[in-house]
Amino acid sequence: MSRTDQNTGIVIWTTTAVMFAACGPAGATGPLTYARDVKPIVDASCGGCHVEGGIAPFELTTYDDVKLHRFAIAAATKLRTMPPVLAAKGCSEYTNDLSLSDEQISTLGAWAESDALEGEAPEASKPVDTSQAGLSRIDLELPMPIVYTPRQSPDDYRCFVMEWPRQGFSYVTGFRAKPGNAQVVHHVIAYLAGPEYAAEFEALDAAEDGPGYTCFGGANGIGGGTGWLGAWAPGAIGGMYPDDTGILVRPGSKVILQVHYNTLGKTGDLSDRTTVELALTDSVKHRAAYVPFTNFSWIRNGGMTIPAHESDVVHSYRIDPTPYWGLVTAGALPNGVALKVHSAAAHQHLLGTKSKQEVLRKDGTNECLLDIPRWDFHWQQAYWLAKPKLVKPGDQLSITCHWDNSMANQPVVDGKRLMPRDADWGESTTDEMCLGLLYVSE
Ligand code: HEC
Repeated sequence: MSRTDQNTGIVIWTTTAVMFAACGPAGATGPLTYARDVKPIVDASCGGCHVEGGIAPFELTTYDDVKLHRFAIAAATKLRTMPPVLAAKGCSEYTNDLSLSDEQISTLGAWAESDALEGEAPEASKPVDTSQAGLSRIDLELPMPIVYTPRQSPDDYRCFVMEWPRQGFSYVTGFRAKPGNAQVVHHVIAYLAGPEYAAEFEALDAAEDGPGYTCFGGANGIGGGTGWLGAWAPGAIGGMYPDDTGILVRPGSKVILQVHYNTLGKTGDLSDRTTVELALTDSVKHRAAYVPFTNFSWIRNGGMTIPAHESDVVHSYRIDPTPYWGLVTAGALPNGVALKVHSAAAHQHLLGTKSKQEVLRKDGTNECLLDIPRWDFHWQQAYWLAKPKLVKPGDQLSITCHWDNSMANQPVVDGKRLMPRDADWGESTTDEMCLGLLYVSE
């Protein structure tokens, strides 16, 4: 009735059972039931978060849980606010897309509106194992230096500086974060800082009390020699990078772990010690790197102005990236050649409303990489393309971001709603960014 995708562990429905079911209680297969129709959807797409000790505020693991929340479930899935997948349909196909099909959404809605029967699980249905590892092996575990208890609420963005323990060149070929406290760990991004930047990050770390330092937009800005090593958000199982690709880590590097803690409504022990798990090799066939994609002149010279009180400010940028691959990856990738884009992520701050990244081909055709019609700072992740895109010299990458800087869209920081003010590129909560991050390989 379903198959589990090898790469993601996500169950993909492939048969007509769900389509019949979506026709409602009068369908050929009888009335909709929790066991047969609803549970498989909820287990596969909600289970990573709506479990005991998970990031979500309530569990969706039993019939009673799901029945109790059925109308909220129907509403949230119909609005596509849950599961929190920001990527729009119809742009590209992603291997790690948790979002529901239209059929699945109507099944949840129709079941809620009907008698919400429990039913019996068919013989073939097995509980979905969401604990399944997305890494085929773990060669290195990097735990946070010490336990940390979030100090700012509801959101605490904290960076921890960790030594890279290996000698010689290593390539990271798989990445996963294991939250120490799944209740409060909202996302984890591991940045890599080359040996020449190690002292800079040690200084940032030393400048603040306690473990780590406060960091909001990134580890310290993207001009500062950091790239991504990997990212994790609740619901993601992590995984191996595309075959024969990996990210170079030189001896003496630092891994800067940015952990976003969300403590809203959470009680009890909020302390955390998150661990990063990596698969490594000494060499790879195809070197890879996360490539930051933006207009670097916005970072250096400003010019990404977002005037106060304007409700739809747009900035766009396009460029043939191929002459700069080496520059933006500190030499990890070669200049002037065609390279493959495997994944795309987007990053804006709190005033951001939407963004789109595309490949504009030399021949005038466009291919969509990632379209985020409703940006939400809380839910950042990399979307892995089912079919990587080769970007050749003469092609361009384009990025367009929108912001709403009106009174109505001002963020609440430390319990206070901010007044609109002119914003531009920067690191802090009141600054903005328009950044794509692409996993690119030879
Ligand atoms: C990546 C983690 C994650 C996944 C996956 C997820 N949720 Fe949630 N959900 C949350 C969090 C966290 C909240 C609390 C509100 C918030 O932070 O947005 C929430 C809130 C909700 C709410 C109440 C708020 C609202 O929007 O009405 C409902 C209902 C809900 N989730 C249903 C679901 C269903 C159904 C699924 C699967 C189809 C799902 N969620 C998948 C994390 C998740």
